[in-house]
Amino acid sequence: MSATPYARVLFAGPDLSEGSFAELFRRQLIALRGEAALAEIVDTSAGDDALWQRVQESPRPLLVIDLDPQSSAQHLDWLRSGLAALDAPEQLFAASLFGQFDSDPASAACILAERRELHLDCVNVPALPDAHSWSCIPPHARRLLLCNGPRCTRRGALPLWKKLRETLKAAGKLECEGGVHITRTQCQFPCDLGPTASLYPEGEWYRIRDEEEVLRWVQERIVEERSVPEMLMKVFVQAG
Ligand code: FES
Repeated sequence: MSATPYARVLFAGPDLSEGSFAELFRRQLIALRGEAALAEIVDTSAGDDALWQRVQESPRPLLVIDLDPQSSAQHLDWLRSGLAALDAPEQLFAASLFGQFDSDPASAACILAERRELHLDCVNVPALPDAHSWSCIPPHARRLLLCNGPRCTRRGALPLWKKLRETLKAAGKLECEGGVHITRTQCQFPCDLGPTASLYPEGEWYRIRDEEEVLRWVQERIVEERSVPEMLMKVFVQAG
């Protein structure tokens, strides 16, 4: 029995239905809260409509634990704003692990559910300011889109983001005149060939598998401005 004042706690995030993370999370959650707790899981892999619908159908007061691996303070504000638009928002609360999962994510989520002081209401969500300094697009000559979708993540894409930024920065090519603007994306489609990275305006598709290939790609493609045919994907765009 929860010591918190909620009629229901929902655990929401992507990849909570299948895959290694889902298996571990579900097994641990059953051990902590019993089989019935599986009904508290909301998989948002296919979009957030599933979450809004579950919240609408749930009794109040209600707490949503944010399990998105890419969560941040901004993501939590976005979640709270979404909850604020639903019925009885004064009885809706949200809390986040900010993507900081250890080997026992269900325990971390259940502990967070008990820590009332870490739960934020959804009524007084700060409005988005009209002008943020970070809303100015930095100078760049190219855009690199690195896939962090589920298949590429399983092929090791997550740590490549940090390594790409570090390597581009060390080469003087990160978000500057003549440099590369880098963005993480969800699935870009050629999952079987990933981890996927696409470069624009050239429209080139690369497979970048590990840190060694990050170093090679940045040096050869960006610094020396020559092609890296061994890393190019053979992608086919379906006819319309
Ligand atoms: S998950 Fe990366 S291309 Fe599909």
